Amino acid sequence: MSVFSGKHILLGVTGSIAGYKSADLASKLAQAGAQVDVILTGAGEKFVTPLTFQSVTGRRAYTDQDLWGNEAHVLHVSFGKTADLFVIAPCTADTIAKLAHGLADNLLTVTALAATCPLLIAPAMDGGMFDHPATQENLSKLRERGVIVVGPAEGHLASGLKGTGRMIEPAEILGHIRIALGKKGILAGKKVLVTAGGTQEALDPVRVITNHSSGKQGYALAQAALDSGADVCLITAPTALTPPVGARLVKVNSAQEMLNAVLAEQADALIMAAAAADFRPKTMATDKMKKRDGVPQIELEAAPDILKTVAGSGSGAKRFRVVVGFAAESRDLLENAAEKLQSKQLDFIAANDISAKDAGFAVDTNRVTLLFPDGTKEVLPLTGKEKVAEKIIEHTSRLLE
Ligand code: CTP
Repeated sequence: MSVFSGKHILLGVTGSIAGYKSADLASKLAQAGAQVDVILTGAGEKFVTPLTFQSVTGRRAYTDQDLWGNEAHVLHVSFGKTADLFVIAPCTADTIAKLAHGLADNLLTVTALAATCPLLIAPAMDGGMFDHPATQENLSKLRERGVIVVGPAEGHLASGLKGTGRMIEPAEILGHIRIALGKKGILAGKKVLVTAGGTQEALDPVRVITNHSSGKQGYALAQAALDSGADVCLITAPTALTPPVGARLVKVNSAQEMLNAVLAEQADALIMAAAAADFRPKTMATDKMKKRDGVPQIELEAAPDILKTVAGSGSGAKRFRVVVGFAAESRDLLENAAEKLQSKQLDFIAANDISAKDAGFAVDTNRVTLLFPDGTKEVLPLTGKEKVAEKIIEHTSRLLE
């Protein structure tokens, strides 16, 4: 189940041009399965209309007019009680000041004062206003009270000037919302190490031997672990993907670098989703290999097997309580995967049929069977890599209990 499904999110929108980006945020949240109720301040309404938010959330958006309506009393109290999270994005210097001092002069601030759920704010304002000691003091006060403050970012501001004051992008706010919602998840207090992507083994300064791994399954695993409340470190070979917000990223190129990075960590669980190289060039040419020197003969040698090094009696053993591997197979899927489960001494393995067009490398879906040392298996039908990740995280958490 997604971290958003069944969740009630209250989205406050205050008076900033960044308000137009909040429509995108509201849309993303609603599409992800959350129930989103929007409250606009008077100034917020000047930039974006309630209709904009109603159109993307499928629910009516609230304004200060509702503060004086029949439901007013129930409205602000019930919102604050039923919501899982109150997000104010964009949050102006004025609203930050009101929140810091407990002022309640509009529907949004009245609701914030009555709310018992966690509060996350994404400040947006001019650089000078953000730097002002009053704003800084107000933000410190809010942080001390446990308010999650995300951003602002540095860059071009509405004033035409450059500075710190831009609201961070909706995709990034969404990542912070996921962390806030997942805080008490099944992996709360646990540390999870995930590897992802296809390693690159250098032939010379410009050429590498690599594979078709996109890193999608590994990144989805890191996100699923974050959604479950884990502290996540993602060791990644080069990919074109945006890392999940909140994961500590360690970038590597080769299988050797990946091994070194894994051995530098200690975690409750290791999930090896990376397609680490099995073979690497015996030597790397220090200069670019030239055509005029003829076709090079490339001698290969074995790259280190990361899982074998950290498993059972390997030299890097005991760093992880649960170790999960993948088996990328083009034939004899279950036989080969069962052999790897045993030889790499894993807690379970995800057998991945890479011969199908809709599974394995570079696509968004996967066809996976989970194999366990006691001989049991769980066949996951063709599904999104996010769903496969959620299942693997569920089993990992069960084994950590
Ligand atoms: N793996 C690893 N170190 C390597 C290569 C692979 O730790 N140098 C891990 C992968 O991350 C995966 C598991 O081992 O979790 C199985 O990888 P796979 O490529 O399917 O199998 P190999 O061990 O490489 O064996 P083979 O080439 O015979 O299929």
